[in-house]
Amino acid sequence: MTTLIKTADDIEKMRIAGRLAGELLDYITPFVQPGVTTEEIDRLCHRYMVDVQHTIPAPLNYAPDGMTPYPKSICTSLNNVICHGIPNDKPLKNGDIMNIDVTVIKDGYHGDSSRMFCVGEVSAHARRLCKITHECMWLGIAKVKAGAHLGDIGYAIQRHAESSGYSVVQEFCGHGIGKNFHEEPQVLHYGRPGTGLKLEAGMIFTIEPMLNQGKRHLRVQSDGWTVVTKDRSLSAQWEHMLVVTDTGYEVLTLSPGAPPPFKG
Ligand code: MF3
Ligand code: CO
Ligand code: CO
Repeated sequence: MTTLIKTADDIEKMRIAGRLAGELLDYITPFVQPGVTTEEIDRLCHRYMVDVQHTIPAPLNYAPDGMTPYPKSICTSLNNVICHGIPNDKPLKNGDIMNIDVTVIKDGYHGDSSRMFCVGEVSAHARRLCKITHECMWLGIAKVKAGAHLGDIGYAIQRHAESSGYSVVQEFCGHGIGKNFHEEPQVLHYGRPGTGLKLEAGMIFTIEPMLNQGKRHLRVQSDGWTVVTKDRSLSAQWEHMLVVTDTGYEVLTLSPGAPPPFKG
């Protein structure tokens, strides 16, 4: 049984892992262009992690309870892919939107973050979905402090998503993280204020809402990983990792290239 509260030493190591995840996203940003394949993006990220950062790509061969091992070093989720898209040899097209989700292991600790990328010129409706999803992540983060409840986070995200005309994916959630990729607690992106686990200083978890332009329902493709919207509508996701403090939170996955926080 692992405790939910991290030590000061754990938190210091998670700061390093988190910053490296953010810096990896910064590094890959200029390469996300029409014509580039997601396999090339995976290869570049893999080389940067191993050769430059001296980090381990956590997704590679990750195999939670009986799942087929994940075959690549990052996740690239394009257009109607909600999450866990597997890099492949298809070139990106003008107008695509894509989530890149990276998780590095440094000194035994995990840093997990993801962002949306617009490929070339993207339609106003797709850009709006990416923007509202980013706002939802930050509205959730803003609820975090010792004494708040997980349901406060979920409610803030769900309210903004649904009032903007989008649906929130329910089958995947944020998660505790540390020496393990996925730990307790589960951080739902929907809920009711005042419900769920009460937050305490030293807890570390991710907030990573997935919003669909259409209905929330999903399907997992035959590769066992790729999660797509059932109605083929566009989906977006952003992810940060943070530590709860007495007065609020510290986001651990910030880096110079991260878009500025959205303040309600
Ligand atoms: N990085 C994802 C998350 O935010 C998990 C990806 S699991 C993988 O939790 F195996 F697909 F990499
Ligand atoms: Co995560
Ligand atoms: Co992630």
